[in-house]
Amino acid sequence: MPATHSAERTKREHLSVVLPTYNERDNILPLLKELLALAQPYELELLVVDDDSSDGTAELVRELAHHDPRVRLIRRLGRYGLASAIKEGLLAATGDLAAVMDSDGQHEPAAIIEAVNKLRQKQLDLVAGSRFLSGAVIKGLSQRRTGGSSLANRFARFSLPNSYSHLTDYMSGCLVLNLQSCLPYVYQVDVNGFKFLYELLAVSRGCLRVEEVPLIFQPRNKGNSKLDLAVLWDFLISLLHSLSLRLLPRRAISFALVGASGVMVQLITTAILMGLGQLQFEEALPAAVVTAATSNYLINNALTFRAQRLRGLNLLRGLVKFLLVASLPVLANVGLATTFYKFVAPNTLGAQMAGILVVFVWNYAASSRFVWNTP
Ligand code: GDD
Ligand code: MN
Repeated sequence: MPATHSAERTKREHLSVVLPTYNERDNILPLLKELLALAQPYELELLVVDDDSSDGTAELVRELAHHDPRVRLIRRLGRYGLASAIKEGLLAATGDLAAVMDSDGQHEPAAIIEAVNKLRQKQLDLVAGSRFLSGAVIKGLSQRRTGGSSLANRFARFSLPNSYSHLTDYMSGCLVLNLQSCLPYVYQVDVNGFKFLYELLAVSRGCLRVEEVPLIFQPRNKGNSKLDLAVLWDFLISLLHSLSLRLLPRRAISFALVGASGVMVQLITTAILMGLGQLQFEEALPAAVVTAATSNYLINNALTFRAQRLRGLNLLRGLVKFLLVASLPVLANVGLATTFYKFVAPNTLGAQMAGILVVFVWNYAASSRFVWNTP
């Protein structure tokens, strides 16, 4: 009887599951099949958001999607990162509820079900799977990572609104959201790296009703973790961004931190050239400034502008552009530092700091625009 059948269908909860993937060829199909088998109480939609994996992940998913319309593939060119993959999946989701989970087998579908039930029973906006709630078991995380995550959690709790201080795992990648109440905040999440939940909580400024369920965090099935230095860097930037009351642009914070490392490079290079190389300050300075600019360029390319990262010949071309863009203030930098040294005080530190300060603003604005083509 089609009528009762469709009435039954409308009663079923529409649940979208967002699965970010980056090189998960060996893990994604078993997980999709496990999720499809849950279908009974749910009208399921499985959204795989792949960042152009080189191992054929997307092709495998497309093949499955061809036979089962509940599976959808969002394929992105370039690697934009986990948090933005989650955001894109959630924006494309058509369910009433959406779940987010890792695609490598570390999160179990059972946790999603538990979270959905809790969300409905207690009429919450968001339920996160926690590795640190009582009842949780961590099987798949090294001591070091566990320690790192607890530390990150402490910083996160400190920097977020008080109404979220009862949470135990701000770093979690396992979530269930009521899309209607969460979507306005999902729109605002704008972040590199892994910390989607942290950002969502930060932009929602305490307005969401959030609770947790304990996770049994399994070891990864196959392949390796994608958490790297750049991901840690992004989290550091997120923290500083929150602590600046979200006033300073995230990328400018990153650019400034890299700039600070350039300051060290310049000071040390000058000292070495003057000490070991027996050069005069005026001779050592230009070489030190170019060394620092090159080091800034390489680090910014790997961290600040990771999503627009230049490689191969473009990396070289970018360096030339960066040095050109920077050369105007580099001349100002050298000129100002030399003048300061000659006329204000023969203090190498003060002289260089004066020059460096002038270049920061120009460099940030101009190189964002002309080197990495971002606004
Ligand atoms: N689309 C996309 N793009 N997916 C990505 C990317 C990316 O750049 N980087 C990672 N992923 C996917 C992976 O394929 C995997 O499905 C999931 O995101 C988690 O990545 P892992 O590399 O397995 O992360 P992990 O196990 O080291 O990190 C775990 O702990 C973190 C907190 O410490 C995960 O549970 C994270 O979600 C969590 O934030
Ligand atoms: Mn993992």
